[in-house]
Amino acid sequence: MKKLWTNCHIASMKNGQYSTIENAVIITHQEKIHWIGTAQDFNLYHSTHLENIEKIDLNGAWVTPGFIDCHTHSIFGGNRSVEFEKRLEGVSYAEIAAQGGGIASTVRATREATDDELLQSASNRIKALLKDGVTTIEIKSGYGLDYENEKKMLNVAKRIGETLPVTVKKTCLAAHALPPEYKDQSDAYIEYICSEMLPKLQQDGLIDAVDAFCEYLAFSPAQVEKVFKVAQSLNIPVKIHAEQLSALGGSSLAARYHALSADHLEYLTEEDAKAMSASNTIAVLLPGAFYFLRETKFPDIQALKKHQVKIALSTDLNPGTSPVLSLRLMMNMGSTLFKLTPEQTLAAVTINAAYALGLQDTHGSLEVGKIADFIAWNIEHPSEITYWLGGDLDKKVIYQGNIRDF
Ligand code: NIG
Ligand code: FE
Repeated sequence: MKKLWTNCHIASMKNGQYSTIENAVIITHQEKIHWIGTAQDFNLYHSTHLENIEKIDLNGAWVTPGFIDCHTHSIFGGNRSVEFEKRLEGVSYAEIAAQGGGIASTVRATREATDDELLQSASNRIKALLKDGVTTIEIKSGYGLDYENEKKMLNVAKRIGETLPVTVKKTCLAAHALPPEYKDQSDAYIEYICSEMLPKLQQDGLIDAVDAFCEYLAFSPAQVEKVFKVAQSLNIPVKIHAEQLSALGGSSLAARYHALSADHLEYLTEEDAKAMSASNTIAVLLPGAFYFLRETKFPDIQALKKHQVKIALSTDLNPGTSPVLSLRLMMNMGSTLFKLTPEQTLAAVTINAAYALGLQDTHGSLEVGKIADFIAWNIEHPSEITYWLGGDLDKKVIYQGNIRDF
């Protein structure tokens, strides 16, 4: 059955722009957008086909595409509030990691947790994200670090997509940190990822993308390249955590492998930005991690803009560097910290985030034929979405053509 959504204004994000339509109408058919345009055009061309259609009055709301959180580590055991306190006393993230804390402590807790425990705790966090209008989320593995536990995490990610009203993309981040059984043998661990983990997890149908943490306290560009080569041979797109704490050129490397995205990027160089532009690799900025680590080095937004690299924003929801439960808060921080305009922050959580997941043909903007994921905000202007900090803005979320009950 078709639905007619009337009495709204639209920021469609078609071609990455606001492309506003005032006094608009949307027709959805099942889970897709069937027609979109002004009320006037609708009256001229469609008023004769009104039988058998459910009408929903949106009361003058502003409609945006559903939000896409394109970088999360939302499945994990335990949390790291004790380390947070240590960091407040002056111990650095790198020092904590060197002492066996950091990612390693979350790996211990995640390995100990059952599937159901992980599902329960991650679902609670993701429900918080859904409140902001998130309709698609990427979830990374990376706290299992062996075949069984990475599989456990990716299976939980799959179950989240089956049990909550949200579309889930699953990313394998086996190259996140060194597991204890490979202490001082990082090349051997990379070999295990390449020869066993990726091929098996791919066979299990659990990987939509492969990610790696390219950093002096994680894996070198040469090691990451080995992982990318295998991903490429398995036809899986790649992504990277790069230039977060130092400039190793991971983002340029990722661009050579046509990565969907390079994420963090505080230490990005202009050369990296050029390489990313040439390969249409999205820059995913993570203001939550920037803030929570009290980083002082700002990503070079000027270089990204100069070379027309598309920018996405995401929560990076994780227990160590970004325990962030609001994507809308990231939009505000993207503006206040990284000087993105409200228009750019909206593109950053819709169409550009869709590109970062390879979903640009079906998600991220309101266009005929795309999935009918959208948010009808009870606001005066779209810039308000970026302006308010926290709270819960009045809105309706439409997921695959139906009003989501949340
Ligand atoms: O995106 N950079 C590496 N990975 C995560 C942190 C993970 C953790 O500390 O648990 C990040 O910041
Ligand atoms: Fe991350």
